[in-house]
Amino acid sequence: MIIELKNVSFKYEKGAEPVFTDLDLKVEEGTCLAVTGDNGSGKTTLFRIINGLSFPDKGEYLYKGTVINEAYLKDNACSKRFHKEIGYLFQNPDTMLFNSSVYDEVAFGPRQMGLRDEEVEERVRDCLKLFEIEDLADKVPYHLSGGQKKWVALASVIALNPEVLVLDEPFAGLDSKKEAWLVDFLRELKAAGKTLIIATHKEEIIKDLADGTFMLG
Ligand SMILES: Nc1ncnc2c1ncn2[C@@H]1O[C@H](COP(=O)(O)OP(=O)(O)OP(=O)(O)O)[C@@H](O)[C@H]1O
Ligand SMILES: [Mg+2]
Repeated sequence: MIIELKNVSFKYEKGAEPVFTDLDLKVEEGTCLAVTGDNGSGKTTLFRIINGLSFPDKGEYLYKGTVINEAYLKDNACSKRFHKEIGYLFQNPDTMLFNSSVYDEVAFGPRQMGLRDEEVEERVRDCLKLFEIEDLADKVPYHLSGGQKKWVALASVIALNPEVLVLDEPFAGLDSKKEAWLVDFLRELKAAGKTLIIATHKEEIIKDLADGTFMLG
């Protein structure tokens, strides 16, 4: 299993209602899991745990058999490796985009990874071309439309070439052309062996892609 949650309980604040109690989840490498559930059922919270941004109060989260907890991610090398392998598209792209140009936004991850300048340049150019956003390269991400922001955020995740893609409502706000393109692209990523975890309210979009559905709530 690439991802495994065992008996995970989580609440945001002391005394608050738990978001999960004794949650179990297994994701096999190279598969696609759809995550559904009503608003507030905990999809984003689950994704925060999978990405090491929140930690279980009880139970364990294992990535490739290693327990991911605060102590593990405090180690710089471990944290870097973990975040390089898992790409996370936030539900709200505004919380992801912080660079002053689309180019820098897409370049941010590859630069963090320590790639050489020419490699970064090549990867960013390829990514902008793939997502057909070369014309947005010099634009300020903050000034883009909602759908464009989501698209740029997605491009910046893909630029990292992660093994696992955790995508929180990737289709929300996309026009039908982008939606269809993205489904095809995700199919290619899966065929290439990537693991996909996708929260969506529109399960029918990925019904041919998903190997299973995990319903929260
Ligand atoms: N930062 C936070 N602090 C306190 N409570 C939170 C926080 N984020 C989420 N919650 C609560 O946790 C629960 C799960 O929220 P979450 O965002 O995970 O749901 P979701 O399934 O992603 O919903 P949506 O479909 O609207 O995106 C909700 O009851 C929410 O109010
Ligand atoms: Mg959510």
